[in-house]
Amino acid sequence: MGKPKLRDTLRLPLALVALSLFFVPSTFAQDTTTAKPDPKKEEAAALVACAKAVLAGFRPIAPTRDVRFEGKVSEANAVCRGGEKTLQFRLTPWVDWQQYWGTGDMSSLPSGFLSTKGPEFRGVTGALTDLEFQRIELIKFNLFDNSGTYQDYIAGRNGVGGPALKVWPQMRLPASDPNYKAVGGDGAQVCTGDLVRGRTLTGICNDVVNPLMGSTGMPFARNVEFETAFPDRGANVLTQNRHGGRLGLLTPDPQVISRVLLTRAQSTPDTCNGGFGLPNNSVAANCDYQKAPFFNVLAAYWIQFMTHDWFSHMEDGHNATVYIDVGCKTKLVNNVEVPLTPEDVKELGCRPGDQVDKTLVDQDSAPNTFTVGGKVYMARAAETFSNNNTAWWDGSQMYGFDDESVKRVKRDPADPAKLLLQPLPGAAQSDPVTGGYLPVLQPGDPFEPQWAGQESVAFPDNWTIGLSFLHTLFAREHNSFVTEFRKQAALTPTADSGLRDPSDPTRVIRYDNVTPDELFAAARLVVSAEIAKIHTTEWTPQLLYDEPLYKGMNANWNGLLGSGDPDVSKALSDIITKNFGKSKDVAKSTQWYSVFSSGPGIFGLGSNAPHYDITKADSINGGVNHFGSPFNFPEEFVSVYRLHPLVPDLIEFRDLSKDPNQIVSKVAVINTFEGKATDAMHDGGMANWGLSLGRQRLGLLTLHNHPQFMQNITLPRLDSATKQIDLAALDIIRDREHGVPRFNEFRRQYGLRQLTSYDDFMDPAVRALPADAPARVQQQQAIDQLRQVYGTHVCDASKVITDAQVNEDKTPINDCLGHPNGSVVDNIEDVDTVVGYLAEFTRPHGFAISETQFVVFILNASRRLFSDRFFTSSFRPEFYTKMGVDWVTNNGPGPAMMEQGAPNGHVQPVLPLKRVLMRNIPELQPELSHVVNAFDPWARDRGQYYTLDWTPRPDAASDPAFKK
Ligand code: HEM
Repeated sequence: MGKPKLRDTLRLPLALVALSLFFVPSTFAQDTTTAKPDPKKEEAAALVACAKAVLAGFRPIAPTRDVRFEGKVSEANAVCRGGEKTLQFRLTPWVDWQQYWGTGDMSSLPSGFLSTKGPEFRGVTGALTDLEFQRIELIKFNLFDNSGTYQDYIAGRNGVGGPALKVWPQMRLPASDPNYKAVGGDGAQVCTGDLVRGRTLTGICNDVVNPLMGSTGMPFARNVEFETAFPDRGANVLTQNRHGGRLGLLTPDPQVISRVLLTRAQSTPDTCNGGFGLPNNSVAANCDYQKAPFFNVLAAYWIQFMTHDWFSHMEDGHNATVYIDVGCKTKLVNNVEVPLTPEDVKELGCRPGDQVDKTLVDQDSAPNTFTVGGKVYMARAAETFSNNNTAWWDGSQMYGFDDESVKRVKRDPADPAKLLLQPLPGAAQSDPVTGGYLPVLQPGDPFEPQWAGQESVAFPDNWTIGLSFLHTLFAREHNSFVTEFRKQAALTPTADSGLRDPSDPTRVIRYDNVTPDELFAAARLVVSAEIAKIHTTEWTPQLLYDEPLYKGMNANWNGLLGSGDPDVSKALSDIITKNFGKSKDVAKSTQWYSVFSSGPGIFGLGSNAPHYDITKADSINGGVNHFGSPFNFPEEFVSVYRLHPLVPDLIEFRDLSKDPNQIVSKVAVINTFEGKATDAMHDGGMANWGLSLGRQRLGLLTLHNHPQFMQNITLPRLDSATKQIDLAALDIIRDREHGVPRFNEFRRQYGLRQLTSYDDFMDPAVRALPADAPARVQQQQAIDQLRQVYGTHVCDASKVITDAQVNEDKTPINDCLGHPNGSVVDNIEDVDTVVGYLAEFTRPHGFAISETQFVVFILNASRRLFSDRFFTSSFRPEFYTKMGVDWVTNNGPGPAMMEQGAPNGHVQPVLPLKRVLMRNIPELQPELSHVVNAFDPWARDRGQYYTLDWTPRPDAASDPAFKK
């Protein structure tokens, strides 16, 4: 490993650094609470710190899980990248990078320094370095497959280390599969011919040598050690010590948690009316909710649309036939569980009579164990659950994932390459694409009674107005692609379309030879890739609205080479050269793959390999990497997507034909659920719904922000006395059923710092405010409520509670979490993960989610790109057509369009969803001309560098949404 070059690392005048080496800064003093330091001194101190950090050398990747990075850098690095404030922050559980220079809005830049650029560069680069460290260690320590491959992952196979394995017998198609023979039957299984041309219905053959991977019905994986899942069962002594027998499916009581900690308070309950609003959708209705100024309601429904592509625990809208109670039974009084009195029930507003269908379980027999290096491992989790969707990002919510769902996917009889879209009943002649709406489910279609009256789509469950909008939009986009392709075919019928048939690879498929089925399959590939691109480069950078994440997400997609971004490039090349060097170690190279891939970007990896041959598995599959663990989403991923607080109670409906700045009605979300969504879509039309969802802010992911209508929702599918359910409580119950570890261990498992009491939830910036400051009062109240609901206990320091991490002095972490033995400590270990992540008041700038949720995405969002052949080595004209490759690359037909100006300092193309909206809902073009990111509330003025201000753009000043 070569010594890092100071000049490269810091880009600072060397003389300044040399000078500063002799300067002993006061800012290193322990008392960090004194007045703001003199900027000159702080600047010099930062430079000294940088030099110290360089001399100390580069942090190695953790050899074992207990000495992980934890998002905490050395004192010198902290000061170098963010100055004194970062030093103070190091004492909190939260990741350091959020304090670095340049990672927030303008106020995150240093003032009074000689150079702002240098600190900003070090801050943003430092943040990117930290994030890459996290990703590498997540790949190294957090992959736990539930389908039987885990033993090989730990022990290796035939002399090859587990993380370097690429093929697994468990990923073979079973003899019962209709394609068993086609992939090789008993022999080596390799998908060929028609099975590799596009995305298959059930998701088989995405990985051509592991046909079953990611297909419908495969088990959800885990990101946590199997032993630590299902904490209420106390699988080992650590788990028993951690929770002291305090946990159960209904303890602490989920409905009590919901009512005390999650309910949205209402200032005018009469006009909210439990989320039902007022008669005739009167604008006089009002339901308060805590709003995110930089993220719109379209973004909320977008993520629901995505989850319906990625995973489902349910089968055809149902769970098991067994029904279970859902709480509203007990509460803690002086740490003793006592039954709720009728008065308590009334006061809380919960329902003891509610019941729900138990989650569907796949395997619950005792798992095998195996021993490696003297350590005993479980071969899988105590219970497993099937992902009843394809795990691939393949548009399966639109195109289908099994024999039943595909029957709801209606193709246009006039052109079977297209999806069926129809004009609205009674509408005047309209454009076949931009005037098209999805057909409604018909008798004879396979559907559950609760879906009656809805649009006919592959995944119809929990149908909302947002899903109606997005399904229709992307059906239009599918047809737009086909229309454009047909136009080209008419112009150049004999030209090479780029498509190839692996069964007849030398045959050039000309435009006029492309069959409707081939074109349909290519359009599906294009639409799925566009959706993935929107999610990666448009949705996520707005969800995590700051500079490091903008750069990081663009590097994931376009790569450093594509983006040519020096900050990202610098951060990653440092990690590679200083940790990996020229090692040929195969396991190590797998581990480092994530960093290497940042050069070209994940998307398209391996698609330009020399001698590419579509008949060869090595070529078409050559760019994927599963890091030794077959791909599927983990249960923990589902948990962090339980985002029900995003949804407002009322949608502020606008009418384009009137004034877009005017709210013409307030429509209750509950009246746009299931079949009512379809009615609402037909009444309002795509353009008006787009405008309405685009302008309104979504709900913050925080405590006390679940819509009341969700806590009292009636689900017709339920075979229970009340037919009602508290969805906030159900989110907690489902996580408990699925064995998601509780919040503190969840964080330790993912390499984040633990909390030592409920008080740690308070934002340090808020703690510095006077005790009666509203923000402090609010956070203190939430902390008191956590204590009330989850309780406290007398701790026993002899009880070790985890092996995922150790204390800083290398001693084991015990029940007292650093408090004196025998003292009363908070039951912080018991806090449900969904509650804990909502209670995180401390967040990086512009983060609509918490850092705990984010760490789960760092791992899994990358993996679902790395593992998918169609996003890596099979992103080629042979599969997508030439037009398809260009369409995905340029965000639509023709050359890339560039956005005006340089938003947040970036010259960038017009982002993909903005283009999809303008193309398929042309009525929205004037409105969208002001918009940079389609998930930023459309009338918000984006102002200066990553501001979160809620101010209207000049022509929207009259919009009542901006009234103080
Ligand atoms: C009006 C809006 C919505 C309604 C009425 C709704 C309703 C539901 C219902 C009834 C369930 C099934 C619970 C069960 O039996 O396990 C569910 C599950 C879920 N919802 Fe929502 N939801 C809405 C919006 C959203 C949004 C915006 C998201 C954002 C990601 C979301 C994420 C989820 C997730 C992750 C699950 C669990 C799915 C699984 O376990 O496979 N929902 N929702």
